[in-house]
Amino acid sequence: MNFTVHRFDSIDSTNTEALKHARRAADEGMCVVARQQTAGRGRQGRTWASPPDAGLYLSIVLRPRLDAKYLPLITLAAALGVFDTLAQLGIDADIKWPNDILVNEKKICGILAETAETERGLAVVVGIGINLTSQNFPSELMDTATSLEGVLSRPVAVSELEGRLLKFFDDRYSRLREPDGASTIIREWGPRSTYFHGKQVRVTLANEMITGVTDGLEANGALRVKKDDGELTIVQAGDVERVRPSDKIRTGQFD
Ligand code: BTN
Repeated sequence: MNFTVHRFDSIDSTNTEALKHARRAADEGMCVVARQQTAGRGRQGRTWASPPDAGLYLSIVLRPRLDAKYLPLITLAAALGVFDTLAQLGIDADIKWPNDILVNEKKICGILAETAETERGLAVVVGIGINLTSQNFPSELMDTATSLEGVLSRPVAVSELEGRLLKFFDDRYSRLREPDGASTIIREWGPRSTYFHGKQVRVTLANEMITGVTDGLEANGALRVKKDDGELTIVQAGDVERVRPSDKIRTGQFD
């Protein structure tokens, strides 16, 4: 893919900007990168703290020629690209379904994929935020988030990170578009995520909360969860949290 990068010192959200370009017929591979976001967006209406030079804030315009049912796999392919990027830096990461990258159980990266109907067909914008430093984290993130500097005890140059990420994203996304690409992504995702199988989780769905054990992915990337009552639930979208044994004991004591 040919990447064309538009750079900003400060912008509301690189995803919002990339969506605007997608609606104005931008080609696949158009990227928006900013040193700071004033209204960085996360999943489910949350904000993504984006202080100046504290993270890589990057969005890529895609025009996928994929069967619509496989579109959710773009997020999984992007997560694999981030995983590969961190691995090359010597970091052993974990992918939390569908789109968080964790190191030592703390979040280092989030991915937000959004779609837009455009005159050139459906466009997908994949937004990736990787924490470079924890120094300016809002206090509420201190316990749950980490950064490259926090993990490696040395700063990582954002330009170097961006170059590696675009390369690894391109590799994974190309593989997704090959015949059988969907099953390749699922097969390669599994061993890189402790959430793939046998993880005790609590999942917040639109209208309910379920608990159970993860049981692999469906062909479109949805998460299979065997509920405590034995029923299998297919989670297309939801927030997943691991349940630690100590949480269960606590629940048991007070139930
Ligand atoms: C999440 O974990 O909820 C997803 C976070 C995605 C953050 C990135 S930073 C670059 C891009 N621009 C945004 O406004 N959001 C994404």
